[in-house]
Amino acid sequence: MEIPTQIIYCGDCLQQLSKLPDSSVDLIYIDPPFNSNRNYEVFWGEAKEKRAFEDRHASTAAYIDFMRPRCVQLARVLKPTGSFYYHCDWHASHYVKVMLDQIFGENSFQNEIIWKRITAHSDTHGFGHVHDVVFRYSNGGKPTFNVELKPYPQEYKDRYFIFEDEYVKTRGKHWRADITGAGLRNGETGKIWRGFDPSQIGHGRHWMQPPAELDKLLEEGRIYLPPDGGVPKWKRYENELKGVPVDSIWVDVPSLAGLSKSAKESLGYPTQKPLALLNRIIKASSNPGQIVLDGFCGCGTALVSAQNLGRKWIGIDISPTACRVMAKRLVKDCGLIEGKNFVVRDLPWSESRLRKIPPFEFENWAVIALGGIKNKAQVGDMGIDGRIYPAHATPKGGKKAGELDFMDTWYPIQVKQKDKAGRPDIDTFEAIMMRENRAKGFFVSFDFSHDALTEIDRFFRREHRVIVPLTVRDILEEEIAAKLS
Ligand SMILES: C[S@@+](CC[C@H](N)C(=O)[O-])C[C@H]1O[C@@H](n2cnc3c(N)ncnc32)[C@H](O)[C@@H]1O
Repeated sequence: MEIPTQIIYCGDCLQQLSKLPDSSVDLIYIDPPFNSNRNYEVFWGEAKEKRAFEDRHASTAAYIDFMRPRCVQLARVLKPTGSFYYHCDWHASHYVKVMLDQIFGENSFQNEIIWKRITAHSDTHGFGHVHDVVFRYSNGGKPTFNVELKPYPQEYKDRYFIFEDEYVKTRGKHWRADITGAGLRNGETGKIWRGFDPSQIGHGRHWMQPPAELDKLLEEGRIYLPPDGGVPKWKRYENELKGVPVDSIWVDVPSLAGLSKSAKESLGYPTQKPLALLNRIIKASSNPGQIVLDGFCGCGTALVSAQNLGRKWIGIDISPTACRVMAKRLVKDCGLIEGKNFVVRDLPWSESRLRKIPPFEFENWAVIALGGIKNKAQVGDMGIDGRIYPAHATPKGGKKAGELDFMDTWYPIQVKQKDKAGRPDIDTFEAIMMRENRAKGFFVSFDFSHDALTEIDRFFRREHRVIVPLTVRDILEEEIAAKLS
């Protein structure tokens, strides 16, 4: 059954998945946050944390309890010929494996992929944790699998490809491989060739090719006849090496960690996975036109990869901010038009839902809706939730465009997820505006008390500084454009 794709659903994947029919997607990749009760922070903050053993054990059990019904839903929507990838690390990987064996069946387990994501870890008390684990499962049927070949390592070539002959210039060096296989054969491959009886070699062997083919190979200079009369060997040349199939240890995909935000791919979120990782998974386990689903899609790496590789996709994330970030990314990196090439559904953009989302998400929503930039908590927000850089402002002192922190012209944004911001809230904001010497600032709340509005007037008359009070309804009704001008 064909289902609608190129959709980002905002919400808990448990609920969102219940909208999808059974056996409807070809490939699922998930990379859920370890500590599920801190979903929101995890998108932005440090995903992995060290904990005392009992504490960790309790949270691992809670994590598995949280993930189990979601994985059951994922298994339900996956086609029998589909593949399921679960990305995790040492915190819970062993528990996850047991859970997935129970859901998909032990026989459906296909791989434990070790992704070496960092090269060094300065852990002096033990061996550094440098890898993540990605489990691959099938779902009852024969899954799509496209083999990827990677070049043979140089050390392998240096070790085996050591012989040179008259073909070295065109074919490269060669190694001398066995041209016989174990076991006796009665047919052509068991016959005597150039005086060699394969049944007399070892415990009895046979030729890998029938004698007529061996003649041809000899003519082409592809068979080595040892001068001491030993068993002929097959000459395998460097230029015939197709490559070695990618195995379950991935050391050739660098992580984005340590890359600055200016690195082309990095959006600056610590949990963002590299596109190369998702490209490998999606190419291996799906074909163009098939459907890829990511139930915890963060900043949308799987969606961008699927889009670039000509697959259809569905993304789900509980964080409205993550949904907006990935929509922007699909527009910027894939040239898609929101509303035409893809849609974002179920964003909590209604007053009643905005009242219920966590304060952190509410701040993000308000700042982004005003076209502002979030103040990063780690920089120290000094009471300001975000900043607006007006379009006419330009970076000072030869700074490159984009280095906004160095710009002088900016307006602070203060956000309070309150029914009514009162006079004390305004007083605090006024103090910030004086301290930062700002001419204009924006205050967002669900409503403002009469006292608060009077104080805003008074502040203007006294200090000639403007505070623009914005209610959530103002923003939702897009009266905002007029007020901001
Ligand atoms: C580790 S991040 C995924 C990063 C992603 N692989 C990428 O490369 O950008 C995990 C995401 O799961 C989301 N999440 C947490 N709980 C969720 C739930 N119940 N349903 C859907 N998404 C959830 C978080 O908001 C976060 O964005």
